[in-house]
Amino acid sequence: MSGLFITLEGPEGAGKSTNRDYLAARLSEQGIEVLLTREPGGTPLAERVRELLLTPSAEPMAADTELLLVFAARAQHLAEVIRPALARGSVVLCDRFTDATYAYQGGGRGLSVERIAQLETFVQGELRPDLTLLFDLPIEVGLARAAARGRLDRFEQEGRSFFEAVRQTYLERAAQAPSRYRILDAGQSLVQVQSALDALLPELLVRCRG
Ligand code: TMP
Repeated sequence: MSGLFITLEGPEGAGKSTNRDYLAARLSEQGIEVLLTREPGGTPLAERVRELLLTPSAEPMAADTELLLVFAARAQHLAEVIRPALARGSVVLCDRFTDATYAYQGGGRGLSVERIAQLETFVQGELRPDLTLLFDLPIEVGLARAAARGRLDRFEQEGRSFFEAVRQTYLERAAQAPSRYRILDAGQSLVQVQSALDALLPELLVRCRG
């Protein structure tokens, strides 16, 4: 038995977590076993790595350190949570995964795509998301939403050009593999985004039951 691996991606302030919970509720209503998780994090150890990644610190973090920490957390998350859940036949809804590494460490930090791809294969083997929902929105809307939430984390403190590169990388990756991505306009109201998710539901249910 093998489950379905769905990831949610997008820049800051895209409402991924809220929409992930909404989608999980719709799928559960239909009797689908859903596991909700997130990256970086998803296990106690990986959540500790998340703290290292997100907490601003006086010591600047080298970009390679950041990349390796992201994949270290992912290796733990895969071993403890994601692979066992997929093996049980669950639908895994994961708030961010390796597309975020291409977008933030590749696009934002300018690290080489080949290096990221090598680590992706090392840590994940053949495993890739079956489907990725990309919550796209203009940078200024997302940053304003993130600022309204309170203190900014280490990534949220980056400048506009960083987030432009993040957004562009996501959109380019979606354009290169359109069968894996569904792009949602997250600049709309929550009700509108949720009705776009409702419209995707029949397709998702077919794939979840697949
Ligand atoms: P969030 O999931 O709460 O939005 O925050 C996680 C932050 O971590 C976000 O700014 C993106 C960043 N991140 C990376 O830089 N690379 C990654 O591979 C992942 C999963 C997240």
